[in-house]
Amino acid sequence: MSEIRESVHGQWSSRWAFILAATGSAVGLGNIWKFPYITGENGGGAFVLVYLVCIAIIGIPIMMAEIMLGRRGRQSPMNTMRTLALEAGAPGHWAWLGWMGVLAGFLILSYYSVIAGWALAYIFRTAVGTFDGQTADGVAHIFQRFLADPEGLLFWHTLFMVMTMLVVARGVRGGLEKAVKFMMPGLFIILLILLGYALSTDGFARGVSFLFKPDFNALLFKLGEDGSKVWNPGPVLTALRHAFFTLSLGMGAIMVYGSYLPAGTSIARTTFFIAGADTLVALLAGMVIFPIVFANGLEPSAGPGLLFQSLPLAFGHMPWGAFFGTLFFILLTFAAWSSSISLIEPAVTWLVENHGMDRLKASVIMGIACWAFGLLTVFSFNVWSDVRLLPMFDTFKDKSIFDLLDYLTANIMLPLGGLLIALFAGWVMRTEASCDELELGDGLAYKLWLALVRFVTPIAVIVVFLHAIEIIKVG
Ligand code: TRP
Repeated sequence: MSEIRESVHGQWSSRWAFILAATGSAVGLGNIWKFPYITGENGGGAFVLVYLVCIAIIGIPIMMAEIMLGRRGRQSPMNTMRTLALEAGAPGHWAWLGWMGVLAGFLILSYYSVIAGWALAYIFRTAVGTFDGQTADGVAHIFQRFLADPEGLLFWHTLFMVMTMLVVARGVRGGLEKAVKFMMPGLFIILLILLGYALSTDGFARGVSFLFKPDFNALLFKLGEDGSKVWNPGPVLTALRHAFFTLSLGMGAIMVYGSYLPAGTSIARTTFFIAGADTLVALLAGMVIFPIVFANGLEPSAGPGLLFQSLPLAFGHMPWGAFFGTLFFILLTFAAWSSSISLIEPAVTWLVENHGMDRLKASVIMGIACWAFGLLTVFSFNVWSDVRLLPMFDTFKDKSIFDLLDYLTANIMLPLGGLLIALFAGWVMRTEASCDELELGDGLAYKLWLALVRFVTPIAVIVVFLHAIEIIKVG
């Protein structure tokens, strides 16, 4: 019974603390950096619509499932999965799901920290006026020079990793909760200020129509080699995978946060709030970035550099640009920071539970390991940009180390984790247990949730895999 289990790591002080922390985990680089550039690469409006549908019918039910499992198990994802599996009369091997999650979180943090380091670096660049009066080419050039310098990237990556581990080491209430309480409201306010600026540019109408006007032709088809239209599932699957990433699902981060949730909190309501806030921030970021992109004749499909090449341009030209720019990158750093702590929290809880370490030692060990692994990403933007780890696979032969890590985690490990979580919550766990923990009653709401995790999510994710298998041909 959930009432008698307690987490050894403590509890959030209130429902709101949990909401802020989980929103802090969800809202991150995925919303402000990744969402705009993948929307740009995938043609805009129709992609956004599919993304919203994925959040609603896949993201929300899985988030509810993860929180529910976490709160019932009250331990690190491995131990939670083992306990709950045994409780349901299933094999303890379900603990492997926790292991995969910890590995995914570790790999994601190793590159996440490098990108967050870009945000850190840009705080100082905007503050000293590097972008004042720059042209689009000038800003792009500054960005490329920045990536080409391994020592610089290494410095910022190191700093960000230290910041992350400082919070994690201080624990649930003293670290995680304190940090998110001031970061999240601040982020929201600065986004609104920037929206005001985007409204004043002459690209606003085009930016908004790019984001919200669906062109399904461009989404579903591409031109074949002979010029005929061929069906292209790529963008739809990208939207589905991003739903996992942006909501922090599929690796146990939300599960671990759920394990600190006080009993008697409505899981459904908190989930709606978190998913809603996450979506709102992503859409706001799009409404800030695309008008600037169009007003300055930039390409929306510029890829991972989009944010770092569009916004500095705006800051270089708007009144008080250095001020707002500095503020923006501070808040982007906050958003990344409140996410990065959730990426490593499951691993730290496991070291504490199973190896009897104190939190400080566990954080230091994990931080150093993850930092070292992050060097692969640092160098993949410069000295190792030509290195290919899996050249024998068609899908991977053009991917740098960073692209490969991103692909393996976001496209394979998270959906796989999400699939297993849905199967466990829907089929393995007894319905009396899930019904009791979700506190939805046994009416329509609960049945809808059960149908989604039992059928819709597994089928959708299996389609992603069939597609991945189809394109992972040995070349
Ligand atoms: N959701 C975060 C973002 O959008 C990233 C993140 C944090 C994450 N924790 C996670 C992604 C766990 C997947 C799993 O930037």
